[in-house]
Amino acid sequence: MKILAIDTSCDDTCASILKVKSQKSKVKSFNILSNIVSSQVKLHQKYGGVYPFLAKREHQRNLIPVLKESLSRARLLKLKVKNQKSKLQLKTQKLKEILKREEILYKKLKRFLEKYQKPKIDIIAVTIGPGLEPCLWQGVNFAKALAFWWDLPVVPVNHIEAHVLANWLEPVSRNFQFSVFNFQKLFPAVCLIVSGGHTQLILMKRIGNYKIIGQTRDDAAGECFDKTARILGLPYPGGPAIAKQAWQWKSEIRNPKSEIKLPRPMINSKDYDFSFSGLKTAVLYDFKNRPKKVRNSKEYIRTMSREIQQAIIDVLIKKTIKAARDYRVKSILFGGGVAANDELRKQFQLKIKNLKLKINFLVPPKNLCTDNAAMVGVAGYFNRKKATKNYQKIKVLANLRITQFNTC
Ligand code: KG4
Ligand code: ZN
Repeated sequence: MKILAIDTSCDDTCASILKVKSQKSKVKSFNILSNIVSSQVKLHQKYGGVYPFLAKREHQRNLIPVLKESLSRARLLKLKVKNQKSKLQLKTQKLKEILKREEILYKKLKRFLEKYQKPKIDIIAVTIGPGLEPCLWQGVNFAKALAFWWDLPVVPVNHIEAHVLANWLEPVSRNFQFSVFNFQKLFPAVCLIVSGGHTQLILMKRIGNYKIIGQTRDDAAGECFDKTARILGLPYPGGPAIAKQAWQWKSEIRNPKSEIKLPRPMINSKDYDFSFSGLKTAVLYDFKNRPKKVRNSKEYIRTMSREIQQAIIDVLIKKTIKAARDYRVKSILFGGGVAANDELRKQFQLKIKNLKLKINFLVPPKNLCTDNAAMVGVAGYFNRKKATKNYQKIKVLANLRITQFNTC
């Protein structure tokens, strides 16, 4: 089975072709034939964050090149031999109707579809939420147009579930030898999803059964990285920028006079919730209260970056371990852009080792933590029963929660 997966939930235009190997209807492995991400980072950098209407236009421009590249890498892009003109005219009219709000995309897609054959794929998976509504619609309408033209079913995907299921893509256990397809050994699990828009602790009894046990009450962890980076004059996205500064700090000589101590919000609260907006405010006050010469210095920016990163890591680790113990889970799964953070990955693994916890720890490779469509393909596979050719009824749900997607 081959899946074409599409994600336009935020500022990355993503398409992937996933090959699913299964035996007796049980999946054995996912093979990524292509996984293309067209980032809009440069465009949004001057705004210090994602500007949705600009992102929407960029998705329209990028979707065809990204689709072409992903089909080509998967060796599925083939030129047409001959067009059947009369039939085509009728189809084009319908295509125009589906993409009536996406004029740029319509023109590009029409040219593409007239030129290339239907690729050998079985199903289209597309993210319907959560995310930025104008952006999500680009991917969804694109998927509908392709589904109509190629007569394929579409399966709607939850972006957060896709981040969780990214762990099935390159199933390498981080501290025990076992297979992610061995559900007996894996579940129940607790998933920490940390991205630009979400920070959630999810209890997962099996694939398709989720319960949100904790979440942020204000800013997401990634948002905190992005906003504090902006205060410090670092580029967007803030996570990698702060991580880089923090890493550079290590090679500096420690100066006790320049130490900074930030709060660890809600670290000892009895629940599994988070709060990161206080951390951002603390950074802002500290920054404003320093003389210009100090706050613009390398030493200050690196010391502050290190402390921001450590404050976020401390809270994430403490809460995740607490949830894992309280719910007596067998595994901990990470996902989302912040899970690409090297220090978080390293310190978490060390913590599990030091505490001698007999818990599997899984985290996807870094490029599969940040937004991509391969993870959407996995979610599409596990939700394939929801696939429909009645694609008109598929709608964007910008605030979709993972529990709305429970299938068992
Ligand atoms: O999952 P993602 O790519 O998109 C969303 O669904 O939001 O996450 C993006 C977030 C951004 O806030 C970015 O700053 C953060 O992930 N991020 C990181 C790192 N790489 C990306 N945060 C910390 N360290 C990183 N290495
Ligand atoms: Zn994401």
